[in-house]
Amino acid sequence: MDRKDWPEVASLIYHGTNHWYQSHGMNAIFTGAVEDTELFCEVYENLDPGCCILAVDQSSQRIAGSCFFHPRETHISLGIMNVHPDAMGQKVASRLLAHITNLAEAEQKPVRLVSSALNLDSFSLYTRAGFTPQTAFQDMILSVPETGIDHAPTGLNRVRKATLADVSKMVALELEHNHISREKDFRYFIENKSGIWHVSVYENETGDLEGFLVSVQHAASNMLGPGIARTDQQAAALIHAELNHNRGRSPVFLIPVTRRELVDTMYKWGARNCEIHFSQVRGNVALPEGVVMPTFMPETG
Ligand SMILES: CC(C)(COP(=O)(O)OP(=O)(O)OC[C@H]1O[C@@H](n2cnc3c(N)ncnc32)[C@H](O)[C@@H]1OP(=O)(O)O)[C@@H](O)C(=O)NCCC(=O)NCCS
Repeated sequence: MDRKDWPEVASLIYHGTNHWYQSHGMNAIFTGAVEDTELFCEVYENLDPGCCILAVDQSSQRIAGSCFFHPRETHISLGIMNVHPDAMGQKVASRLLAHITNLAEAEQKPVRLVSSALNLDSFSLYTRAGFTPQTAFQDMILSVPETGIDHAPTGLNRVRKATLADVSKMVALELEHNHISREKDFRYFIENKSGIWHVSVYENETGDLEGFLVSVQHAASNMLGPGIARTDQQAAALIHAELNHNRGRSPVFLIPVTRRELVDTMYKWGARNCEIHFSQVRGNVALPEGVVMPTFMPETG
């Protein structure tokens, strides 16, 4: 993908995703302006220049498919993947995917992604190509009152805004819990040159980091994550802090379905389910520990 392709790729992401969901009886994912989805090109090119591949129709020269990938020390993440509605079912995605899995094999790295459990096409695409679902997540949406969340979880006083001095501890925490490492992402969020990111950390009495949670606030993506916490209670305190950073908005966040206490807390706060996703891995990777909260901006897997 070149800079000149951004508007067409943004349109493909917007229309391809909305078309798939709407033609399967669900609501559109992107509801703002088409141009807003250039956010994916902008953030991903900032983080990983040159890491988006396109499938181009030779006769019309139109873009039939696009896929971003994010090479990191420990793995390659994949996403967002889109195929034009006119080209779906013709192995466009399979070929884009093969390009990235070949790269990963050459570097002997696992490939990781988050795929919808409601979308049989993407589920099939990845599991046919050797990916294995690892963790199920419920996507929850919560409308945050202008006055903030009306519940104060234990440990809220241990949450503070992240600084660049926290990056190495965040990296270590994620490596311990989710077996991936990606320092540049955390630097990028905390530096926040575009003004759309916010990061909280959970620090214990002895100054050790027990968790962190990022959020993005943009017309094309209003999500909490990525995040890690050792316990459900710490995760709830971090979610509380990031929700209150989103007063008057309705961010989405992914909670592992197995974290009973955290799920119950979110229901108590008024969260509702809006999707279900699986983290999927191609290659040998240990199961995550603690509370892992992935996101699609940028996709973490
Ligand atoms: C999901 C999406 C990318 C798939 O693109 P596509 O080009 O139509 O997919 P392909 O034609 O390459 O098919 C993928 C594979 O799934 C297989 N497949 C499809 N339905 C299947 C089913 N029900 N059971 C088993 N396999 C199935 C196909 O046979 C193909 O495998 P193969 O190449 O080994 O034969 C496309 O539908 C899309 O853009 N959807 C909207 C956006 C989206 O959901 N993106 C993914 C999330 S990031």
